[in-house]
Amino acid sequence: MPCIVIVGGFYGDEGKGKVIAYLAKKDNYSIAVRGGVGPNAGHTFVDEGKMYKVRMLPSAALNRSTRLLIGPGVLINPEILLKEIETFNASDRTFVDAQCGIIDQKHIEKDNLEDHLKGFIGTTGSGTGPANADRAFRLLKLAREIDVLSLYLEDVSSSVNFALDNKENVIVEGTQGTFLSLYYGEYPYVTSKDVTASGICSDVGIGPKKVDDVLVVFKSYVTRVGGGPLQDEVSREEAEKRGWLEYGSVTGRERRSSPFDMNLAKKAIRLNSATQLAITKLDVIFPETSGIREFNKLSEKAKKFIQNIEAETGVKVILIGTGPELNDIIDRRI
Ligand code: IMP
Ligand code: MG
Repeated sequence: MPCIVIVGGFYGDEGKGKVIAYLAKKDNYSIAVRGGVGPNAGHTFVDEGKMYKVRMLPSAALNRSTRLLIGPGVLINPEILLKEIETFNASDRTFVDAQCGIIDQKHIEKDNLEDHLKGFIGTTGSGTGPANADRAFRLLKLAREIDVLSLYLEDVSSSVNFALDNKENVIVEGTQGTFLSLYYGEYPYVTSKDVTASGICSDVGIGPKKVDDVLVVFKSYVTRVGGGPLQDEVSREEAEKRGWLEYGSVTGRERRSSPFDMNLAKKAIRLNSATQLAITKLDVIFPETSGIREFNKLSEKAKKFIQNIEAETGVKVILIGTGPELNDIIDRRI
């Protein structure tokens, strides 16, 4: 399994951060490379009681033997990146592509002041949309022009392709979720780029034939933050009762929620050509599964929930999240 791509199957916040951090610890990739939009994403994971959050670095950051790369399709906020490099003590193993676009203060202001973006779309306000617009205008500054990044510059696609040609293991990390894609989501309630597996591969510079597995991550229920349609959305009160009420990790906004959506899941599997699935937060919909690490120990209804997803989609669920800690997971590969 030299090259695995991980993407979200719904609207972001499926729990990719935890899944990636677990895999990185377990499978020891030589490279973790981040694709996706930029610091509008927030990946959270908890290891040995400590909570970590990354908006720029790959979520594999805890594994000290993994090189952390950011592909040229990703926008960088240098301030956020440098802080994370410090938090994870990762200055000797972080590399950003010289052609990554740079978010500056005016992009952030525009994202927060323009009613179309902040009010109507409900963006995260992190400046990614306006920066990608400037990139399309060919006006955006690139990482190679920024002094504080000079230490970290690399030709990321060459490094990734070289590693793959040498049969090293690489994990390619997507951000956001399939239905926030600029092309495949419900426009205009989308982010500023394609975030399906093909888009993520393009962000880091690998062709489709280099990918061995595409792991699509779904949460046991669906959440969405910001505007846009959400099939079978439950009321805030109902969400609170079910334990589904979450808050955005970047903006702190309340997330809207709905039950697991099989049709959406099937569509995400097609769009990403999923070969494997992960289902997170099973313990939220079936509290009795909390902390369980073996499939056979799940309750009958929890097993049925997973088996039904496999039967309906024809794709195997290899990882099941049963709690916030990295190790609160059922790994069905072992
Ligand atoms: P933008 O990506 O900040 O422009 O926001 C566009 C839409 O995508 C808004 O609805 C955001 O709430 C949503 N969005 C962007 N990134 C994420 C994410 O990482 N998780 C969840 N929603 C996101
Ligand atoms: Mg998130």
